[in-house]
Amino acid sequence: GKNIGILAIEVYTPRTFISQSAFEEHTGVSSGRYTLGLGQDGMAVTGDAEDVNSMALTVTHSLLEKYNIDPASVGRLEVGTETLVDKSKSTKTVLMDLFLGNTDIEGATVINACYGGTSALLNAFNWVESDSWDGRYAIVVAVDIATYARGPARPTCGAGAVAVLVGRNAPLAMIDPRERATHASNVYDFFKPDHTVEYPVVDGALSQLCYYRALEDCYSKFCDKVDRLNNNCVVGGCGEVDEQQQQHYFHAEAADYFVFHAPYNKLVQKSYGRMYFMDARRRHARERMMMTEDSEEKKEGSTHSTAAEAAAPQSVLFAYEDLTKPIEETYSDKGLEDTLKSISKASYSQRLTDANAASKIVGNTYTASVFLGLASLIDKAGSRGDLTPGKTAVVFSYGSGALATMYRLHVRTPTTSSSAACGGSSERIFTIEEMAQKLNLSARLATREEVHPQELDLALETRARMHRCGAPYSPVYPTVGRMFPGTYFLNGIDSKWVRSYSRV
Ligand code: ACO
Repeated sequence: GKNIGILAIEVYTPRTFISQSAFEEHTGVSSGRYTLGLGQDGMAVTGDAEDVNSMALTVTHSLLEKYNIDPASVGRLEVGTETLVDKSKSTKTVLMDLFLGNTDIEGATVINACYGGTSALLNAFNWVESDSWDGRYAIVVAVDIATYARGPARPTCGAGAVAVLVGRNAPLAMIDPRERATHASNVYDFFKPDHTVEYPVVDGALSQLCYYRALEDCYSKFCDKVDRLNNNCVVGGCGEVDEQQQQHYFHAEAADYFVFHAPYNKLVQKSYGRMYFMDARRRHARERMMMTEDSEEKKEGSTHSTAAEAAAPQSVLFAYEDLTKPIEETYSDKGLEDTLKSISKASYSQRLTDANAASKIVGNTYTASVFLGLASLIDKAGSRGDLTPGKTAVVFSYGSGALATMYRLHVRTPTTSSSAACGGSSERIFTIEEMAQKLNLSARLATREEVHPQELDLALETRARMHRCGAPYSPVYPTVGRMFPGTYFLNGIDSKWVRSYSRV
């Protein structure tokens, strides 16, 4: 196989942050509302001195520098963002300042709420897999500054950027490109129709519902595809399955790790619980189908379970009504939610805690969120030595509007004499250990500066002013002295609307 996947990864998040408990006090809400209610501990803060262009420059420059990547060895560069600074000129073109001498780079900026980065990643995977691949690397940059107007959504702000190097013979690679499953639909849950403000129009309750629907649709299709491939059928061409044959069914504990788009941690916890419910419903539907097909077995009450499926946890806990009623009626069932929470709790800690560690203290980073999850997993589990060959991670990316995809990666040892290599780039070996060591994410996040929640208000006011004032404009927050070394910042917008950047 070509083993297409992630070779290297870098994260940038602003140096200043607020604590969610201080923010609860500051906004006068009940204690625990953001920390326990949303499951968030901190939130990255930045103002008008940074924009997605500067953050993308910071993270991409850092990736190239840390891994000593020759800019000429990059043939594709694609950005996902929804924090637009320009309706036409893409952030990808701004990044070309880092690739002087190499103008032969495909890719643009992809926009769809929090999904653009995943779309860019899938484009990169497809390019590296295709006949048009010229042996060079692809880079995917996901970057956003998540902002909301005052109100219940404001504790889910955040800011961050992730850059990913994509190629063949990867240590974190797709198992089979046919496994991925997508949900695309037309909903108005979160969108940005007003160009005079940065904030979205958001229906919080609807956006949660749309997230669940997308997850469940992706998960069901993903399970079908993985099961068919595992049981030696080709997707789309699967005929009769031998009932006597041992069948293996994917389930909520069948991957070592799960990485979800994380607007706030509580949603991820609840969503993971929903997967157990989907497992039970799928199993019930299978049993019903088999019983209809085989009346003998119906009499005996046989379930066709296999060892692999029996290991699928606690599906017997659900009432018959839960397994058969329309899924829409189950979302508001608090009793069901409690059951799902308790049966998924231990597995959640085991399979999702590492991936969520960073987003709990950085906040929502929109397109970058799911990539921050991957980086956090590599940082935590990778540096413990737990990301051994064969370990798998299922990724779920959601963007409002809505687009969502689920796909699976596995850890592998790159081959040293790569037959896949047909250009210079693939001959270099990248490893999980190198990624974990170069990310050094937890340690870097621990050096951030906690600021008073008032600074979030100030930072967001400066961003709102920038939106209102047009050109020329001189940014004020944060000051250069409060940025990490290597951070790009916006010098200003001149009278012809041209933005210029410098590096700390
Ligand atoms: N102590 C403990 N828990 C509390 C407290 C408290 N003092 N106060 C409230 N809670 C709990 C509630 O009981 C509720 O718990 P539950 O989820 O178990 O039911 C939880 O906190 C959330 O409270 P709600 O009243 O339901 O919601 P809230 O008004 O806080 O708003 C929301 C939350 C809708 C997520 C809001 O922050 C929002 O609109 N965010 C932006 C949209 C978003 O992120 N959508 C997700 C997908 S789309 C995307 O990524 C942009």
